[in-house]
Amino acid sequence: MDLFVTCGKMIEPLLADELAQLGFKQIIIGFRGVHVKGVPPEAIYRINYLSRLAERVLLPLKRFLCYDERSLYEGANKIDWLAYIPKGKSIAIDANVSHPRLRNSLFAAQLVKDAICDQLRKRVGWRPDVNVKSPDVQLNLYVSEKAGVISFDTSGKPLHKRGYRQETVEAPMQETLAAALLTLARFQGNEIVCDPCCGSGTLLIEAALMASKTPAGFLRSSWPFMLLPEYSQEQWLKVKVEADSARMILPKGQFFGADISKQAVHACKVNLRAAGLHQTVEVMQHEVSAYEPPIPPNFVITNPPYGKRMEDFGHLVSLYRTLGDFMKRKTAKPARGFIFTGSPDLAKEVGLAASRRHVIDNGGIEARLLEFDLY
Ligand SMILES: C[S@@+](CC[C@H](N)C(=O)[O-])C[C@H]1O[C@@H](n2cnc3c(N)ncnc32)[C@H](O)[C@@H]1O
Repeated sequence: MDLFVTCGKMIEPLLADELAQLGFKQIIIGFRGVHVKGVPPEAIYRINYLSRLAERVLLPLKRFLCYDERSLYEGANKIDWLAYIPKGKSIAIDANVSHPRLRNSLFAAQLVKDAICDQLRKRVGWRPDVNVKSPDVQLNLYVSEKAGVISFDTSGKPLHKRGYRQETVEAPMQETLAAALLTLARFQGNEIVCDPCCGSGTLLIEAALMASKTPAGFLRSSWPFMLLPEYSQEQWLKVKVEADSARMILPKGQFFGADISKQAVHACKVNLRAAGLHQTVEVMQHEVSAYEPPIPPNFVITNPPYGKRMEDFGHLVSLYRTLGDFMKRKTAKPARGFIFTGSPDLAKEVGLAASRRHVIDNGGIEARLLEFDLY
């Protein structure tokens, strides 16, 4: 089978590398995702469970010429829906459509829903309910030019929802973005890690999950791929048991974080507990300048606020300078430091020359991961 694995903007090449490392050979980079071709059903389990960068694993059910309402309805009607939607299960259709003859994505999704319901009512006398918030079967429609494709979303909930985020802060980082930054930072898993503006702890948690070889999907319990006709529980358990058995217990004293906000430190601790990492990652409430990590780190990674209002700027200038000092004075040399920011002006205030700059999209803002070599 062929799969389309979706991801955030600019993450595509990193995801392609990750999938190659998972052993897949036929990989083609697309827009906001990567095509993986000629794979067995087991690939669906492996990518969903192991990929740290993927958002969804889509299994195309039908590709068809789609140029108007009729061709869309007929294309959708050609799928044997009884094979994919069991009686009593709800559906939702996520649509992304760009064609002049199809009014909008919502309307196109409605047409696919009609085709499904008409077909099932005619064949078996029942139709599925629609549940947009929490469907049992999530379907995906993509139409570009005249090419339509309807896919079964084997992930359901997006994969960045790992299951540990119980509490949040004002500007939390998405889990898949944190994993992408750690990948760009060439994180090895044996460094002493510190995030001095840790917020809800996403960078620390993703780093600890990587270091302990914990599968990205370890905390998730519901997998819509179990509804697929080709689902094999034996194969899924083989993938899961093999991945779970590679997990390692991390020593104490490797992961440290701080945040000025009491509420952020609380959120971070709650999330660490949910991830099973509360005894591994040590978090304290501190202002960066007053923070002394219990062990000097050799890998600092953080995303400080970068403010959108002018009045924030002066305050943030001093935070970025303090972060520069922190990396210079409180790390074990040689060390590497990383600051992720959407503000090139504030980046200059760090007072260190970046050895590399990695550009990455952060919710529509072009942001940079700045890398500093600290000797
Ligand atoms: C963009 S958020 C970090 C989000 C985090 N990566 C996450 O996933 O939740 C920036 C954090 O920096 C913290 N912060 C701001 N000024 C600080 C300072 N002077 N010292 C320590 N932390 C600070 C804020 O409280 C906030 O939690």
